[in-house]
Amino acid sequence: MRRLMKKFFSTNNPETIAILGGTGDVGTGFALRWGKSGHKIIIGSRVREKAETAVAKLLKSVPNLSVVAMENRAAAETGDIVVLTVPAAHQISTLTSVKDVLKGKILVDATVPLMPPKVGTVQLPTEGSAGKRAQELLGDDVMVVSAFQNIAANLMKTDVNIECDVLVSGNKKVARERVIQLAEDAGMHAWHAGPIDNAAAAEALTSILIQINKRYPISHSGIKIVGGSHD
Ligand SMILES: NC(=O)c1ccc[n+]([C@@H]2O[C@H](COP(=O)([O-])OP(=O)(O)OC[C@H]3O[C@@H](n4cnc5c(N)ncnc54)[C@H](OP(=O)(O)O)[C@@H]3O)[C@@H](O)[C@H]2O)c1
Repeated sequence: MRRLMKKFFSTNNPETIAILGGTGDVGTGFALRWGKSGHKIIIGSRVREKAETAVAKLLKSVPNLSVVAMENRAAAETGDIVVLTVPAAHQISTLTSVKDVLKGKILVDATVPLMPPKVGTVQLPTEGSAGKRAQELLGDDVMVVSAFQNIAANLMKTDVNIECDVLVSGNKKVARERVIQLAEDAGMHAWHAGPIDNAAAAEALTSILIQINKRYPISHSGIKIVGGSHD
């Protein structure tokens, strides 16, 4: 635990991370954790004033964060890595609005394609998953990495040790490696989970965790990968 928290508060490789929809719950959690570990954060929003309000709130709680406000498109253009944290219903419209400025970048997609009110039932999109449809929309010039679907936003917004592992899917190993490092910087443990086709498994798992949270007297259920050595 001590080792994890030390890593959480310092990164050797600071990057500028643009969070589209960064004014929301997941975006705020990412901004706090990555900001505290030394990354520069851009809070993206459809409305610049809303992003500015979110930045002021973040700075009030952690004054030394490096965080600025921009509209989503400027954020996507400026960030080294771009993270999408908007509701599933607005994933495609948001990505379409920034598609041309994402070329050559990693797009981290945290979308869970839940279909209210039946959020405890797996209902993946016809493309197979939200991650897959993002990759198809953006094309091979953008490295889509799907991750963080199983981590509750209200845990991310605190300094608690997050025990749930992160499954990281994407077609490029080098992009998955960078996102695994970002998960570690945020105090989580992450695993290569294969190509973007496998994003379906992590996205679907969220509905199962919701069922478990309802059925048992635990909150924030999560997953942990276990196993012995190959020897
Ligand atoms: N909540 C969780 O525990 C959790 C955990 C893992 C993954 N996820 C996934 O992460 C994503 C974000 O979740 P969240 O709970 O942070 O969502 P949220 O707070 O409901 O919304 C995030 C942001 O999305 C933007 N947004 C809202 N309506 C929009 C629209 N019509 N078009 C474009 N942008 C819009 C808003 O930003 P602006 O108004 O500033 O533009 C909002 O602040 C979702 O896909 C969710 O499935 C959630």
